[in-house]
Amino acid sequence: MFFGGDYNPEQWPEQSWPDDVARMREAGVNLVTVGVFSWALLEPAEGRYEFGWLDRILDLLADGGIGVDLATATASPPPWLSVAYPDSLPVDADGHRLWPGSRQAYCPSSPRYRTASVRLARTLAERYGGHRALRMWHVGNEYGCHVPRCYCDVSAEAFRTWLRERYDLAALNETWGTRFWSQEYTSFDQVLPPRRTPAFSNPTQVLDFARFSSAELLDCYRGERDVLRELTPDVPVTTNFMAGMHWEMDYWAWAAEVDLVSNDHYIRVHDPHGHVNLAFSADVTRGLAGGEPWLLMEHSTSAVNWQPRNVPKTPGQMRRNSLTHVARGSEGALFFQWRASKAGAEKYHSALLPHAGTDSRIWREVVELGSDLGKLAEVTGSVVSSTVAIVLSWESVWAQERPSQPSADMTATDELAAWHAALWRLGITVDFVAPGADISGYRVVMLPSLYLLSGVDRDVLARYVESGGTLVVGAYSGVVDERDHIVLDGYPGALREVLGVRMEEFVPLLDGQTITLSDGSAGRVWREFGRVTTAEVIAAYADGEDAWSRWLAGHPAITRNTRGDGTAWYVSTRLDPPSLERLLGRITGEAGVAGSGVPLELVRRSHADGRTYLFAINHDEEGAVPLDVAGVDLLTGADFPGEVPPGGVVVIKVVTP
Ligand code: GAL
Repeated sequence: MFFGGDYNPEQWPEQSWPDDVARMREAGVNLVTVGVFSWALLEPAEGRYEFGWLDRILDLLADGGIGVDLATATASPPPWLSVAYPDSLPVDADGHRLWPGSRQAYCPSSPRYRTASVRLARTLAERYGGHRALRMWHVGNEYGCHVPRCYCDVSAEAFRTWLRERYDLAALNETWGTRFWSQEYTSFDQVLPPRRTPAFSNPTQVLDFARFSSAELLDCYRGERDVLRELTPDVPVTTNFMAGMHWEMDYWAWAAEVDLVSNDHYIRVHDPHGHVNLAFSADVTRGLAGGEPWLLMEHSTSAVNWQPRNVPKTPGQMRRNSLTHVARGSEGALFFQWRASKAGAEKYHSALLPHAGTDSRIWREVVELGSDLGKLAEVTGSVVSSTVAIVLSWESVWAQERPSQPSADMTATDELAAWHAALWRLGITVDFVAPGADISGYRVVMLPSLYLLSGVDRDVLARYVESGGTLVVGAYSGVVDERDHIVLDGYPGALREVLGVRMEEFVPLLDGQTITLSDGSAGRVWREFGRVTTAEVIAAYADGEDAWSRWLAGHPAITRNTRGDGTAWYVSTRLDPPSLERLLGRITGEAGVAGSGVPLELVRRSHADGRTYLFAINHDEEGAVPLDVAGVDLLTGADFPGEVPPGGVVVIKVVTP
């Protein structure tokens, strides 16, 4: 199991480095990410390199037995680059240039940035490709975290090139629906990124620009990745995602380009459900890794610095967080960062080695975590398996979460999180899959709110149901095609047949309004007016607070359709959490998927030879929870059946009869 984090030795006097390495050894650190933000030091002037300090620290780390995830250092261009090439700086939708002085100040389409970053990656690979500390390459850092989209003239030209590769002018006009509001283009030269407009921008232009922008950053990554692969074919290449937190990169496309999927997650400490969001991010990451193990590249030991109020983690919380990531498929736990900075924008961010030094709660917990991870070596390589999947599409999120929709409240990301959370509460581990993926092995497949669906992906869902699957579709799914054009003749166009419903109108609720259904469920935000064609009504709209409630009464709210050998459910409102949990519990139960039945977060990892580890996380800091599973806790050696202590974690090596 990997344990460690970002190590920024350049922030500290060189005399302290041997001490850092000694402390890392004391804590059990075995992997550090070096050089993420050191471009300005490594290349102080164009083409002039100063590698001495990096040579010395890599040697020290190697001597200490600590592996290095070596960054290509291209996440933050140095000041000289933007002075020499001002058009490498990004521009926002209002036309404002973003200046250096923080980080990530580059335009993803800038040839200047791309040439300089690939050159640095090549130089580093030539110098360190054979270094004994090198374990993997870390390209860039959190691509798109601060500048997912750039609207400058260089980007505009690149966007036009991207469009020309996909459309002729007639197809562009047709796809973007430019007859509307007099937007017909007569030349590609007239096409711009969706800069700030007087009224709503053209939605398909915005969608294509989102696709283009994710692809442009991916090209930046690929440029560096390709030289690393050429020079060091045996060293895995990764870049850290922000799955489930930032939504601007289409990570399905990105995941195909990395050797190891890695992810960063920062918990909202003040949020009582922060740990559920953590599980969401980890599950999405496992989906990106195709179910294979992945690596938690960053999280925090305690407080971050970028929330309005940065509450530290409570004692024991870091351990629960780290081990939850491991439970859900991570091959270790890395952090930002090794040693808390004393200067700079992140000086109030926690670290493995806090400002208080080693005589501190955080340090003692770090040492304990290092020891725990050391005991989990045999878990590496095992995988989490599930019989329930949620279909996730970044493109669909981009298309849905735009102004000028029936309701600004009907957001895909909230719906995804709510359905995942309901399954979390039921104790059902869920996989995330891409639209069109092979879902034939899942007992239940869910689309919490998948607004944009292509015909090809729709057919995959229809075949799944016909051959015996259970499909559960949430409101505002299958409404538009990949061009963001409505599928006509009744909602949800693409899924109308498989669901056996035909909806005519969306009837959103106002802020704070609730409705009740005939089965006692409660809903908010969204309703639909229509009828069933072949489905049966499981619950009808019953009551509400506005004029529409009367007209909707008796009309279908939750439906079930039998098609071929399978079943397709439709939920046309946003159910409140208990109602959603009840419904999904019923559907999964009928499909033969059992919940955990205990108030613990339970996740299993298994090897192909059958060796199985049950991670049990007790989020209740006050009460122990009995767990009736036979085995031994790898962390303490305690025999089970036994109890999971308050706020504790056990990793039971399960005895198979
Ligand atoms: C991440 C980033 C790190 C650090 C961290 C702070 O987004 O990759 O460099 O800034 O956040 O939480």
